[in-house]
Amino acid sequence: MKSFSIFVTLLVLLLIIAGATANLQELCKQATSSSTIVTYDFCVRSLQPINGSNDVDAKGLVGITINLSLDNLVGIINMLSDLQSKTTNKTVLDALNACSDEVNRGTTELKVAQNLVSNGYAQDALTAVRVAEKSSDVCDSAFNQRGIQSPVHDAMHDPVLLCDLVDLIIQLLA
Ligand SMILES: *[C@@H]1O[C@H](CO)[C@@H](O)[C@H](O)[C@H]1NC(C)=O
Ligand SMILES: *[C@@H]1O[C@H](CO)[C@@H](O)[C@H](O)[C@H]1NC(C)=O
Ligand SMILES: *[C@@H]1O[C@H](CO)[C@@H](O)[C@H](O)[C@H]1NC(C)=O
Repeated sequence: MKSFSIFVTLLVLLLIIAGATANLQELCKQATSSSTIVTYDFCVRSLQPINGSNDVDAKGLVGITINLSLDNLVGIINMLSDLQSKTTNKTVLDALNACSDEVNRGTTELKVAQNLVSNGYAQDALTAVRVAEKSSDVCDSAFNQRGIQSPVHDAMHDPVLLCDLVDLIIQLLA
């Protein structure tokens, strides 16, 4: 009898572990199924390393993904600020400032989205997240308009893809 209950306990534990790891994969599958931009692999690869990502529902995963996006965008803001401190060229500086302002606006909107989602306003959160999603294009054109290639074009690829992923996961709630 005792060994049987140990067996049952182990079985239940195994099922919990299997269920937990299947959860992120399932949410990534659902979120990215309709996307031509964000892949399932990107979703799993980005979120799997984060503590707790296997044990949360869609709403919890939005929170985790927004925080990851914020960390990444702060990295971009730091890169821009480093470039700002090193250039004396007014045209380049104007472009860097315009880009930096936009990325800052994106981070503000992501924080707004974080609050909206936790209060149940998924649809409104989408509007906020889309500001951050556009920041890469806005930066590109800030530089292109001045005849410069964006020095952060490549670096912004994954951070903005994470914002697209936030959008897709929120759509599971909306
Ligand atoms: C992950 O979470 C566990 C339990 O909450 C904690 O003990 C551990 O330190 C965390 N690991 C990291 C890398 O944050
Ligand atoms: C996101 O980051 C904020 C600020 O660091 C923290 O308070 C919050 O708990 C984090 N949320 C998740 C879901 O990790
Ligand atoms: C500033 O940078 C732009 C773009 O690289 C360049 O075309 C322009 O000649 C530079 N201006 C000065 C004063 O160096």
